[in-house]
Amino acid sequence: MQALRSFFTCLFFLFSLLRISAATALGTITPSGYIRDGETLVSVGGSYELGFFSRAKSKSRYVGIWYTDSTDAVVWVANRETPLGDSSGLLKLTEQGVLVLLLNSSNSIVWSSNSSRIAGNPVSQLLDSGNLVVQDGNETNPDNFLWQSFDYPCHTFLPEMKIGWDLVTGLERYLSSWKSAEDPAPGEFSARIDYRGLPQIFSMKGAKKVGRAGSWNGLHLTGFSSGQPNPIATIEFVWNKDEVYYQFRLLNRSVFQRLVLSPLGVSRRFTWEYQTHGWEFASILQADRCESYALCGAYTICKINNSPICVCLKGFVPKSPQDWNSGNWSDGCVRTTPLACNHGDGFLTYNGVKLPDTSSSWYDKSMSLEQCKGLCLGNCSCTAYTNLDVREGGTGCLLWFDNIIDIREFTLGQDLYIRMAASEIDHVKKKSNFNKRQLLAILLSSAVFLMGMLIVGIILYIRKKKLRNEGLRPKDCREEYPGEDGEDMELPLFDLTTIAKATNGFSNSNKLGEGGFGPVYKGTLIEGKEIAVKRLSKNSGQGMREFRTEVILIARLQHRNLVKLLGCCIQKDEKILIYESMPSKSLDFYIFVFSDQEGQKLLDWPKCFHIIGGVARGLLYLHQDSRLRIIHRDLKPSNILLDDNMNPKISDFGLAKTFGGEQSQANTNRVVGTYGYMSPEYAADGIFSMKSDVFSFGVILLEMLSRNKNRGFRHPDHDHNLLGHAWIRWIQDKPLEVIDKTFCDSCNISEVIRCLHVGLLCVQRVPEDRPSMSSVVLMLSSDVALPPPKQPGFYTERSVPESPSRAILCSENTFSTTLIEPR
Ligand SMILES: *[C@@H]1O[C@H](CO)[C@@H](O)[C@H](O)[C@H]1NC(C)=O
Ligand SMILES: *[C@@H]1O[C@H](CO)[C@@H](O)[C@H](O)[C@H]1NC(C)=O
Ligand SMILES: *[C@@H]1O[C@H](CO)[C@@H](O)[C@H](O)[C@H]1NC(C)=O
Ligand SMILES: *[C@@H]1O[C@H](CO)[C@@H](O)[C@H](O)[C@H]1NC(C)=O
Ligand SMILES: *[C@@H]1O[C@H](CO)[C@@H](O)[C@H](O)[C@H]1NC(C)=O
Ligand SMILES: *[C@@H]1O[C@H](CO)[C@@H](O)[C@H](O)[C@H]1NC(C)=O
Repeated sequence: MQALRSFFTCLFFLFSLLRISAATALGTITPSGYIRDGETLVSVGGSYELGFFSRAKSKSRYVGIWYTDSTDAVVWVANRETPLGDSSGLLKLTEQGVLVLLLNSSNSIVWSSNSSRIAGNPVSQLLDSGNLVVQDGNETNPDNFLWQSFDYPCHTFLPEMKIGWDLVTGLERYLSSWKSAEDPAPGEFSARIDYRGLPQIFSMKGAKKVGRAGSWNGLHLTGFSSGQPNPIATIEFVWNKDEVYYQFRLLNRSVFQRLVLSPLGVSRRFTWEYQTHGWEFASILQADRCESYALCGAYTICKINNSPICVCLKGFVPKSPQDWNSGNWSDGCVRTTPLACNHGDGFLTYNGVKLPDTSSSWYDKSMSLEQCKGLCLGNCSCTAYTNLDVREGGTGCLLWFDNIIDIREFTLGQDLYIRMAASEIDHVKKKSNFNKRQLLAILLSSAVFLMGMLIVGIILYIRKKKLRNEGLRPKDCREEYPGEDGEDMELPLFDLTTIAKATNGFSNSNKLGEGGFGPVYKGTLIEGKEIAVKRLSKNSGQGMREFRTEVILIARLQHRNLVKLLGCCIQKDEKILIYESMPSKSLDFYIFVFSDQEGQKLLDWPKCFHIIGGVARGLLYLHQDSRLRIIHRDLKPSNILLDDNMNPKISDFGLAKTFGGEQSQANTNRVVGTYGYMSPEYAADGIFSMKSDVFSFGVILLEMLSRNKNRGFRHPDHDHNLLGHAWIRWIQDKPLEVIDKTFCDSCNISEVIRCLHVGLLCVQRVPEDRPSMSSVVLMLSSDVALPPPKQPGFYTERSVPESPSRAILCSENTFSTTLIEPR
């Protein structure tokens, strides 16, 4: 009996082995065969694989193509919008040559390819370029496909794929982002070619243009300002009456390269590194504000190092001066002197610019620049001209009609000639041609001015010295709101106009997001220092009381894991805090926003552990080490900023509370904080203590380990939030099921489990059971024995009490998400 069973098992095994190899070895599907879930089709050269997959947290099954060496890197998905609910999917080829994806359990067709022709002898093959094609086996031309996946790109642009238009059939091939790292359905962003005028590549958010990679000048796209060269590929831009497309080919076919449009609209180029067996990536477009399409409006030039960045072209003035000065440049600029048309116009030359939007342009490939100029002058509606192709010293002619929009200054840019009234050109020329006499006059008046400044400076210095001697200090923040001890600490008081200038008049484009009590802006002081500016809303609920608390508290805190306050500004109704600016992003960005693959690279286990330790030490400092005892009360990933070395810095002390030496618990009738991170005793009864911060810390720790948000966490097995899920898996002795799989390449399992254990201890329901931060730091950095965790607080989402009588500020922070949208 036993022998018989093993015989059958063996036979079955052999059989399935044979069947699988029959499906995979040929790299083809014919009408008599199929691919079922679990099987794959490997391309002839072995580079790519086609099969069924699902994304980390979802059970939905998709049919896709990925790299054999990197199965996470999915390059194409068939049923993007129609996932399979179970694993009974079958991919088949019909006798007519149509690929169909069936769900065998319900006998329904979920997806199919299509073709305008019928094949006599259809066969589907996965080519070694990653292209899934359907061919007619009787066809003599091997490139005459009935259907090919390269005609329907998803978020990945592969070598030999075309992005653009087949003008004969009207087929457009464009990239469209995934909805999220888990959901391959078409998302908001796309990258496509607009072939009106001179064809150019746009990135779009829905129907809105958000960035412009520009047109082709023979060497590169005119909008590639970052100019990161791609040494291993050649790029081609083809446009003729039949088709318009952009394509790249690898010089070395044994290297993989792909370009991916992320769910947030960022284009990145990934190159496979054989040494590390991983992907190296580079961003394609420089993510600065001048990349934002038409930010400055018509007849302007965007200069990233200028302040403000938008400048009218010479001889133009802002159309709506008031909007313009408040940093809304969308109306652009208008001519001071109208064009005279045929009665003597000329051109002003701009060197090194990104050419303007060419959708209303006209071109000729053979004209010379001189002919081009003549043609432009002869047509009253022509506004600018330049060479079409920059090779061979410049050839061809490109003319603009209508408005000139979306110019920026950059080193790889071209020369552009903009039409002006002759009088205006004389004016500009005069302005730049000083004669000697004028120069002398200017030098003299400058000298007088400098002398004057020197005298004023000396007077001010003497006056300050005198004040000091009289025991007075110049006005600073502490002067307005002196603390308890009279220690001498100067916190600079900034002038409102300085801050307005640094932030372009608090312009929306400088806005980083909504912090605890009002918007946060990025800014640049005149001397070039980058700052973050928190402008408290007048109706924020943060009165002078909180403001004062925050200013005094942070000014005294000095710790490498806390954000440094540079100064404040109190003027009229305005209450503004000025912080050191973090070049990097907040923690939530790394945990939640990046897809698994990218996130894994940026936040691997050693970095993650480093961040956990830093946050714990920063919090310990707040709780115990500083002379005051401070409770943060709104600790969450978006309040933890990371510098370039991934050192965490706790920010947003707007809700912090100080305690007298002995006091360790207090009660408030104003509960402020963020659900998901608030401890039960604080949310329900307004009781807060250091243990409420410990609770929030525990939540952050668990969110980092699982790369999941506590609130909104969903699991098919139960109704609990992340805390409940972690707790259940812990008692089931399956702790690794809580940990995000991507960590495990770089992780030290015992360290990860120890962190999970500490996290569970921190979120225990009873505050007294939770460890203090000093214990937490010890637990994380040594091998001390840990007590078993008890039941966490709030582990079922639905138990969160919603008390309408209490003012609860639920700040859903947008700081991070707005930061990474590049345009
Ligand atoms: C499809 O489902 C039927 C009925 O459940 C089953 O007999 C058949 O083997 C399945 N086909 C494949 C290819 O799995
Ligand atoms: C094939 O399907 C696509 C998308 O559904 C559609 O846009 C296209 O017109 C179809 N082509 C043919 C030849 O039917
Ligand atoms: C295609 O070729 C097969 C054999 O390879 C043959 O049987 C069939 O008749 C051919 N079909 C057509 C339409 O030529
Ligand atoms: C192509 O790339 C592979 C792997 O990096 C390398 O070993 C090989 O020498 C390269 N070939 C050429 C022609 O550059
Ligand atoms: C800028 O001004 C334009 C036109 O005056 C207006 O439509 C637009 O909403 C303004 N944008 C912002 C961000 O205020
Ligand atoms: C000027 O150019 C525009 C756009 O090409 C064209 O429609 C118009 O006829 C031209 N006008 C003259 C006078 O050539």
